[in-house]
This record gives sequence, C-alpha cells and structure tokens, in this order.
Amino acid sequence: MVNLIHISDLHYGSEFVPEYMENVIKYIEDESPDAVICTGDIIHKGRITQFKGVLPYLKRIRECTRFLAVPGNHDAKNSGIIFFERLIGPRRSRLIIDDKDTLIVGICSARDDIAYGECGDEQLDWCGRQFDKNLENRVLALHHHLIPVPLSGQKFTTVRDAGEVLEFTQLFELDLVLMGHRHVPHAYVIGPTTFLYCGTSTSKKVRADDSPSFNHIILNEGDIEVHIVNSTNLERSLLLERRLSRTKFVRPRRTRIEHLLSSSVWDD
Ligand SMILES: [Fe+2]
Repeated sequence: MVNLIHISDLHYGSEFVPEYMENVIKYIEDESPDAVICTGDIIHKGRITQFKGVLPYLKRIRECTRFLAVPGNHDAKNSGIIFFERLIGPRRSRLIIDDKDTLIVGICSARDDIAYGECGDEQLDWCGRQFDKNLENRVLALHHHLIPVPLSGQKFTTVRDAGEVLEFTQLFELDLVLMGHRHVPHAYVIGPTTFLYCGTSTSKKVRADDSPSFNHIILNEGDIEVHIVNSTNLERSLLLERRLSRTKFVRPRRTRIEHLLSSSVWDD
C-alpha cells in the first residue's frame, strides 16, 4: 500500500494563509505518507523573495517524507523558473519509492510568463524513457490540466499538447496523473488511468464555494482511494474509490510517442 499526499497551488505571496499551511504540515506529520507531491504554483509571482519565503515550510515537509514538486505558471512568472530550479528542485524530476515499487515522474508544463502550458516533444520523449511497465505504481505529475474541469473557467486550462500526453498515459498504462492549476478538486477515469486534480491547498483562491484542500491518495495493488482533505479543519471526504478493471483498446495506428521513442533526435 502506498500513501501519497497531493498538494497544489500554495500561492505563497498572495492570499496565502499560514494557518492552512500549518494544518497541511500537521496532517503530513501525523499521516507520514510515502511521499508528498506538489503540482505547482508554489508561489504567486516568480519572485526570489517569495521562493525564499516559502522554503522553511517546504523544508519541514521534506523532513517528514520524500517530496517532489513541479513548476506552475505562477512559479514561472518573471523568469521564476531560474529560482525554482535553484531553490526548489529541477523542473522535471522523478522520485522512486523502492520498497513500494512506485515511480513518480514530474514534468514542467509551465513556460515563462505564459498562462497556458505545454509539455513538448523533448520532454515527452524523456518521460517515455522513465516509465517501466513492470513497476506496480506509475504516477505522472504536472501543473496544467489534460482534460478541462467544469467550474475551472474557460481559459488556459489545458496544455496545448494535451492529446499527445493523454495518449502517452494510455500507452504506458499510467495509474495516476496529478494536476493542479485551476484550484478545482476533481477526478476522471480513462482506461487504466485516474486523472486527479487538486484544489488550492493553502490560499483563499478557491472557486465557487469550494474550500482550500489537498488530496490523500491510497494506492493498493491496483485499487485507488482518494480523499479530499479540507485545509481549514482537516476534515476528510471521499472523492474517488476505484477497483481497477483494465480496458483493452487496440490502437488503430502507431502512437506519436512510439514515433518519438524510436527516433534518435533527442538522444544525448
Ligand atoms: Fe494556481
């Protein structure tokens, strides 16, 4: 059994509520998950002062467990990707939980000063070289949406190459895709993959009448259970319970990622 905590859109620097952050850290300390994954917008304006301001909180999370973060479009404002990589971690990374047969890959969908996102061929190719089908749990994390979510607004929700990334998730039979961006907790299931969206975990930037929240995920031999945890009072509510039934889909043609992976264009 693997326990993951999915936080997102902390937005340190704008409508950030330290009390919510303290609640999130307390929950992590109490639950000791196998990893915490943050799907971007850690800070609000890409400023080095904001990155430095949020670091003590992230340090406390890192002291509890493994931590992986991907950049969001707000982290990438004002050339903030430079400071993200200097102070938080690489823009794309992977985290292996050896004893749980689990791989989490984080990719950067954010681009400097642009609200919409893109993964890009070079990054997809890199991603394709990370996932091993023999691993029991395979998780992809990125900031932007792959599928639009109601109540999240009409603009800039998905990456431009969402089709390619969706095809990737199905080809590699990923178990889970984690996303943030528009602060609306939600889930979709397509084939073997559960697509999970996180609310804003530590800010007041909620949509409609949502509460700030984060996700607690339990992966258990193909079964997935997700609870939304309210950051104001740590109340849990069930979002999704899935007993995995794999769908067989015969692809009508060679997939785009197969074309990419068979080419030597991106080799070092
Ligand atoms: Fe955000």
